[in-house]
Amino acid sequence: MKRILVAYATMAGSTVDVAEAVGEEIAQSGVPVDVLPIDEVKDLAAYDGVVIGGPMIVNWHHATSGFLKRRRAALQRVPLAVFVTAMSLTQTGETSVDGVPVSVDEKLPKPPETEGRLNFRERYARLPNYIRPILRASRPIKPVSIGLFGGRLEYGRLKWWAVLFVMLIVQAPAGDRRNWAAIRSWAAGLPAAFQVE
Ligand SMILES: Cc1cc2nc3c(=O)[nH]c(=O)nc-3n(C[C@H](O)[C@H](O)[C@H](O)COP(=O)(O)O)c2cc1C
Repeated sequence: MKRILVAYATMAGSTVDVAEAVGEEIAQSGVPVDVLPIDEVKDLAAYDGVVIGGPMIVNWHHATSGFLKRRRAALQRVPLAVFVTAMSLTQTGETSVDGVPVSVDEKLPKPPETEGRLNFRERYARLPNYIRPILRASRPIKPVSIGLFGGRLEYGRLKWWAVLFVMLIVQAPAGDRRNWAAIRSWAAGLPAAFQVE
Protein backbone atom coordinates (compact mmCIF):
# COMPACT_ATOMS: atom_id res chain seq x y z
CA MET A 1 0.00 0.00 0.00
CA LYS A 2 1.35 3.40 -0.97
CA ARG A 3 1.82 5.94 1.81
CA ILE A 4 2.46 9.70 1.93
CA LEU A 5 4.26 11.77 4.55
CA VAL A 6 3.40 15.38 5.35
CA ALA A 7 6.16 16.77 7.59
CA TYR A 8 6.06 20.32 8.91
CA ALA A 9 7.91 22.86 11.01
CA THR A 10 6.36 25.80 12.84
CA MET A 11 7.37 28.70 15.02
CA ALA A 12 4.05 29.96 16.39
CA GLY A 13 1.78 26.99 15.60
CA SER A 14 -0.32 28.03 12.60
CA THR A 15 1.43 25.78 10.08
CA VAL A 16 0.28 22.72 12.04
CA ASP A 17 -3.31 23.29 10.86
CA VAL A 18 -2.09 23.84 7.29
CA ALA A 19 -0.21 20.52 7.36
CA GLU A 20 -3.31 18.77 8.77
CA ALA A 21 -5.47 20.20 5.97
CA VAL A 22 -2.94 19.08 3.35
CA GLY A 23 -2.94 15.60 4.89
CA GLU A 24 -6.75 15.44 4.94
CA GLU A 25 -6.98 16.36 1.27
CA ILE A 26 -4.41 13.78 0.21
CA ALA A 27 -6.20 11.14 2.30
CA GLN A 28 -9.40 11.83 0.32
CA SER A 29 -7.77 9.98 -2.57
CA GLY A 30 -7.64 6.83 -0.43
CA VAL A 31 -3.88 6.96 0.13
CA PRO A 32 -2.85 6.70 3.82
CA VAL A 33 -1.08 9.82 5.12
CA ASP A 34 1.11 10.49 8.15
CA VAL A 35 1.24 14.14 9.29
CA LEU A 36 4.25 14.66 11.56
CA PRO A 37 6.39 17.45 13.05
CA ILE A 38 9.58 17.36 11.05
CA ASP A 39 11.77 16.41 14.03
CA GLU A 40 9.66 13.30 14.63
CA VAL A 41 10.25 11.86 11.14
CA LYS A 42 12.34 8.72 11.25
CA ASP A 43 12.48 6.29 8.34
CA LEU A 44 11.55 7.70 4.94
CA ALA A 45 11.66 4.27 3.30
CA ALA A 46 7.99 3.68 4.21
CA TYR A 47 6.79 6.54 1.96
CA ASP A 48 5.97 6.89 -1.73
CA GLY A 49 5.71 10.68 -1.65
CA VAL A 50 6.82 13.37 0.79
CA VAL A 51 5.41 16.86 1.44
CA ILE A 52 7.55 19.23 3.50
CA GLY A 53 5.95 22.43 4.76
CA GLY A 54 6.95 25.37 6.90
CA PRO A 55 6.67 29.14 7.31
CA MET A 56 8.95 31.87 6.05
CA ILE A 57 10.92 32.82 9.16
CA VAL A 58 13.51 35.15 7.61
CA ASN A 59 14.22 32.30 5.21
CA TRP A 60 12.16 29.14 4.98
CA HIS A 61 12.04 27.68 8.51
CA HIS A 62 15.56 26.38 9.29
CA ALA A 63 14.22 22.93 10.29
CA THR A 64 12.62 22.38 6.88
CA SER A 65 15.69 23.48 4.89
CA GLY A 66 17.92 21.43 7.19
CA PHE A 67 15.74 18.37 6.69
CA LEU A 68 15.99 18.66 2.89
CA LYS A 69 19.78 18.86 3.09
CA ARG A 70 20.26 16.07 5.65
CA ARG A 71 17.77 13.61 4.12
CA ARG A 72 18.62 14.31 0.48
CA ALA A 73 19.72 10.75 -0.29
CA ALA A 74 16.50 9.20 1.00
CA LEU A 75 14.36 11.89 -0.63
CA GLN A 76 15.85 11.18 -4.05
CA ARG A 77 13.81 8.01 -4.42
CA VAL A 78 10.38 9.60 -3.88
CA PRO A 79 8.50 12.57 -5.35
CA LEU A 80 8.75 15.68 -3.19
CA ALA A 81 6.31 18.58 -2.81
CA VAL A 82 6.85 21.67 -0.68
CA PHE A 83 4.58 24.25 0.89
CA VAL A 84 5.46 27.60 2.38
CA THR A 85 3.39 29.98 4.48
CA ALA A 86 4.11 33.70 4.48
CA MET A 87 2.53 37.06 5.24
CA SER A 88 4.03 39.19 2.49
CA LEU A 89 4.58 38.64 -1.22
CA THR A 90 5.19 41.18 -3.95
CA GLN A 91 2.96 40.73 -6.95
CA THR A 92 5.11 39.87 -9.96
CA GLY A 93 2.87 37.39 -11.78
CA GLU A 94 5.46 34.60 -11.67
CA THR A 95 4.10 31.04 -11.52
CA SER A 96 7.39 29.14 -11.51
CA VAL A 97 10.94 29.54 -10.25
CA ASP A 98 13.82 27.92 -12.15
CA GLY A 99 11.38 25.62 -13.93
CA VAL A 100 9.57 24.45 -10.80
CA PRO A 101 5.84 25.28 -10.74
CA VAL A 102 4.73 27.41 -7.78
CA SER A 103 1.08 27.58 -6.92
CA VAL A 104 0.58 30.97 -5.28
CA ASP A 105 -2.44 31.73 -3.10
CA GLU A 106 -4.08 34.49 -5.16
CA LYS A 107 -5.00 36.46 -2.04
CA LEU A 108 -1.39 36.83 -0.88
CA PRO A 109 0.49 38.98 -3.46
CA LYS A 110 0.31 42.76 -3.20
CA PRO A 111 1.19 45.09 -6.10
CA PRO A 112 4.17 47.44 -5.59
CA GLU A 113 3.28 50.83 -4.11
CA THR A 114 4.97 52.60 -7.02
CA GLU A 115 4.53 50.98 -10.41
CA GLY A 116 7.83 49.92 -11.98
CA ARG A 117 9.90 50.57 -8.81
CA LEU A 118 10.18 48.20 -5.87
CA ASN A 119 11.06 49.46 -2.40
CA PHE A 120 13.28 47.44 -0.04
CA ARG A 121 10.43 45.37 1.44
CA GLU A 122 8.95 44.66 -1.97
CA ARG A 123 12.30 43.51 -3.37
CA TYR A 124 12.80 41.26 -0.36
CA ALA A 125 9.31 39.71 -0.75
CA ARG A 126 9.66 38.59 -4.38
CA LEU A 127 8.78 34.99 -5.15
CA PRO A 128 12.28 33.89 -6.34
CA ASN A 129 13.81 35.30 -3.14
CA TYR A 130 11.63 32.97 -1.10
CA ILE A 131 11.83 29.90 -3.35
CA ARG A 132 15.45 29.80 -4.59
CA PRO A 133 16.97 28.94 -1.18
CA ILE A 134 14.50 26.04 -0.95
CA LEU A 135 15.55 24.76 -4.37
CA ARG A 136 19.19 25.08 -3.33
CA ALA A 137 18.51 23.05 -0.18
CA SER A 138 16.77 20.27 -2.13
CA ARG A 139 19.21 20.16 -5.05
CA PRO A 140 19.46 17.96 -7.12
CA ILE A 141 15.86 17.04 -6.29
CA LYS A 142 13.28 19.28 -7.95
CA PRO A 143 9.96 19.36 -6.10
CA VAL A 144 7.06 18.31 -8.33
CA SER A 145 5.07 21.22 -6.92
CA ILE A 146 5.46 24.12 -4.50
CA GLY A 147 2.52 25.84 -2.80
CA LEU A 148 2.87 29.32 -1.29
CA PHE A 149 0.04 30.34 1.01
CA GLY A 150 -0.91 33.09 3.41
CA GLY A 151 -0.12 32.28 7.03
CA ARG A 152 -1.06 33.65 10.42
CA LEU A 153 0.76 36.32 12.36
CA GLU A 154 0.04 37.07 16.01
CA TYR A 155 2.54 39.35 17.67
CA GLY A 156 1.54 38.10 21.12
CA ARG A 157 2.94 34.63 20.30
CA LEU A 158 6.37 35.90 19.27
CA LYS A 159 9.62 36.66 21.06
CA TRP A 160 10.80 40.29 20.95
CA TRP A 161 13.42 39.72 18.22
CA ALA A 162 10.83 38.07 16.00
CA VAL A 163 8.42 40.99 16.48
CA LEU A 164 11.23 43.39 15.58
CA PHE A 165 12.16 41.48 12.40
CA VAL A 166 8.56 41.27 11.23
CA MET A 167 7.93 44.96 11.92
CA LEU A 168 11.12 46.13 10.20
CA ILE A 169 11.45 43.74 7.26
CA VAL A 170 8.20 41.89 6.58
CA GLN A 171 6.02 44.84 7.59
CA ALA A 172 2.92 42.69 7.58
CA PRO A 173 -0.12 43.42 9.72
CA ALA A 174 -1.18 40.78 12.23
CA GLY A 175 -4.00 38.45 11.21
CA ASP A 176 -4.96 35.04 9.91
CA ARG A 177 -4.49 34.95 6.14
CA ARG A 178 -4.68 31.21 5.70
CA ASN A 179 -6.79 30.57 2.60
CA TRP A 180 -8.16 27.09 3.19
CA ALA A 181 -9.68 26.80 -0.29
CA ALA A 182 -6.29 27.50 -1.92
CA ILE A 183 -4.46 25.16 0.46
CA ARG A 184 -6.92 22.31 -0.04
CA SER A 185 -7.11 22.75 -3.79
CA TRP A 186 -3.29 22.53 -4.07
CA ALA A 187 -3.16 19.48 -1.78
CA ALA A 188 -5.93 17.70 -3.70
CA GLY A 189 -3.66 17.69 -6.76
CA LEU A 190 -0.75 16.01 -4.98
CA PRO A 191 -1.78 12.33 -5.33
CA ALA A 192 -1.83 12.80 -9.12
CA ALA A 193 1.47 14.74 -9.05
CA PHE A 194 2.97 11.92 -6.97
CA GLN A 195 1.38 9.27 -9.24
CA VAL A 196 0.05 7.36 -6.24
CA GLU A 197 -3.65 7.44 -7.15
C1 LIG B 1 10.74 36.02 12.76
C2 LIG B 1 9.73 35.94 11.66
C3 LIG B 1 10.15 36.12 10.35
C4 LIG B 1 9.23 36.08 9.30
N1 LIG B 1 9.68 36.27 8.03
C5 LIG B 1 8.78 36.34 7.04
C6 LIG B 1 9.22 36.62 5.72
O1 LIG B 1 10.39 36.77 5.45
N2 LIG B 1 8.26 36.73 4.75
C7 LIG B 1 6.93 36.56 5.02
O2 LIG B 1 6.13 36.69 4.12
N3 LIG B 1 6.50 36.23 6.26
C8 LIG B 1 7.39 36.13 7.27
N4 LIG B 1 6.97 35.84 8.53
C9 LIG B 1 5.54 35.51 8.75
C10 LIG B 1 5.36 33.99 8.93
O3 LIG B 1 5.86 33.28 7.82
C11 LIG B 1 3.88 33.65 9.12
O4 LIG B 1 3.40 34.38 10.21
C12 LIG B 1 3.66 32.17 9.30
O5 LIG B 1 2.31 31.86 9.05
C13 LIG B 1 4.03 31.69 10.71
O6 LIG B 1 3.82 30.30 10.79
P1 LIG B 1 3.78 29.56 12.19
O7 LIG B 1 2.58 30.11 12.95
O8 LIG B 1 3.61 28.11 11.86
O9 LIG B 1 5.08 29.82 12.88
C14 LIG B 1 7.86 35.86 9.58
C15 LIG B 1 7.43 35.65 10.90
C16 LIG B 1 8.36 35.69 11.92
C17 LIG B 1 7.87 35.48 13.32
